[in-house]
Amino acid sequence: MSNETITVINNATGERHDFPLRQGSLGPAAVDISSLYKEAGFFTYDPGFMSTASCNSAITYIDGEEGVLLYRGYPIEQLATKASFLEVAYLLLYGDLPDEKALVDFEKIITRHTMLNENLKDFLDGFHYDAHPMAMLVGVVGSLSAFYHDSLSVNDPRHREISAHRLIAKLPTIAAAAYKHSVGEPIMYPRNDLRYCANFLHMMFATPCEHYKPGLVAEKAMNLLFILHADHEQNASTSTVRLAGSSGANPFACIAAGIASLWGPAHGGANEAVLDMLLEIGDVKEVPRYIEKAKDKDDPFRLMGFGHRVYKNYDPRAKIIREVCHQVLDEIADVNNPLLELAMKLEEIALNDEYFVERKLYPNVDFYSGIIYQALGIPRNMFTVMFAVARTVGWVSHWLEMMSDSNNRIGRPRQIYRGPTQRDYLPISKR
Ligand code: SDX
Repeated sequence: MSNETITVINNATGERHDFPLRQGSLGPAAVDISSLYKEAGFFTYDPGFMSTASCNSAITYIDGEEGVLLYRGYPIEQLATKASFLEVAYLLLYGDLPDEKALVDFEKIITRHTMLNENLKDFLDGFHYDAHPMAMLVGVVGSLSAFYHDSLSVNDPRHREISAHRLIAKLPTIAAAAYKHSVGEPIMYPRNDLRYCANFLHMMFATPCEHYKPGLVAEKAMNLLFILHADHEQNASTSTVRLAGSSGANPFACIAAGIASLWGPAHGGANEAVLDMLLEIGDVKEVPRYIEKAKDKDDPFRLMGFGHRVYKNYDPRAKIIREVCHQVLDEIADVNNPLLELAMKLEEIALNDEYFVERKLYPNVDFYSGIIYQALGIPRNMFTVMFAVARTVGWVSHWLEMMSDSNNRIGRPRQIYRGPTQRDYLPISKR
């Protein structure tokens, strides 16, 4: 297909323009229309980017029809059950699974970047006592460029790598500090003798008053959830990071922009919204009424955790989380968790309803994740923070990939202008 082209014919003038087809290693080919405006004087129009490839990337592949998700070619099902989160982070950052020495070295580097500049504690203290942890996360991550001046030259590959390591290492510390601020407890410092997820649990739930040992089941559940949330191709928040980075903005500002985009309930904010929805539904008897609300065009209610721009099949991550739910709840919380039962009944009814079947609306990654987070003792307002901690690995991987691409240009879409044509200013007396 390397020389194939697509011809665009302007029926009004008979003009023909040939555009090259670009074929990746997997997935549909793309028509390279970058010269369309210069050659034919037209823009393309694709709000929401339903049919637009924004870049070349070798990080993650999704097949929405088949429900396939590969990180650097490895199926998510294998990584989720066999790898550690930092092993997957190395894979996404560098393109291959690490050998034993590379993994040990990478774990040491990340571990030694987990502490925060002590002045950041004062920054956190400035937030209102009941600030949403996502508001604190956006603010503190954006402020990191005020503390780490020594690695901000975005055109220096070594500075880019140091910033990537700092972000991956410090996000759990900042997330846990935001949680501690929201519950009025002292911030817990990271411990270098703990693995990444165990350290996060320590910083979240330990107090200076007594010894805390992170549970192995909780650590394994968090490791799995972080792997499942680590990356997902050109989703809204990753595209936000790429667009911010295309202007040469520093990595901390770019990741803060990604966190802001992830916060929306249509995106990463959905996991918190799913729990709110399940608590609002309250009882299995109410499910049919809420299914009807979700189908009613005049009702803004949507089934949170259902539907996906790309997956028109079961989200492979949701399938894995659904299975882990039972294991975690069996081992950590009471087996008959009413919310899990309600969620499964909701899924069963929705997947047999024509409206959802016709629109290929299946549970996505957010539908079950909150139930596990809640079983781990994590409050709802921290669910999207958990998503952001994990997705930071994907965001920095895409940022590094874009910044090392010599063809990288500032992203600058155009528009269909619908405003007034030119008109002259009128003195106020004549308006
Ligand atoms: C994430 O992009 C990614 O990769 C994201 C993500 C990642 O890892 O980064 O996977 C994480 O963001 C998962 C999605 C989490 N969001 C939610 O669960 C919120 C609920 N879902 C919807 O808001 C919606 O499904 C979206 C936003 C996820 C997708 O929206 P689309 O692709 O723009 O689909 P659409 O709005 O055009 O819907 C198509 C039809 C519409 O009906 P019709 O106009 O055709 O009659 O399906 C309906 C929609 O009304 N629909 C729903 C629905 N989702 C879509 N109806 C009821 N409940 C829903 N959840």
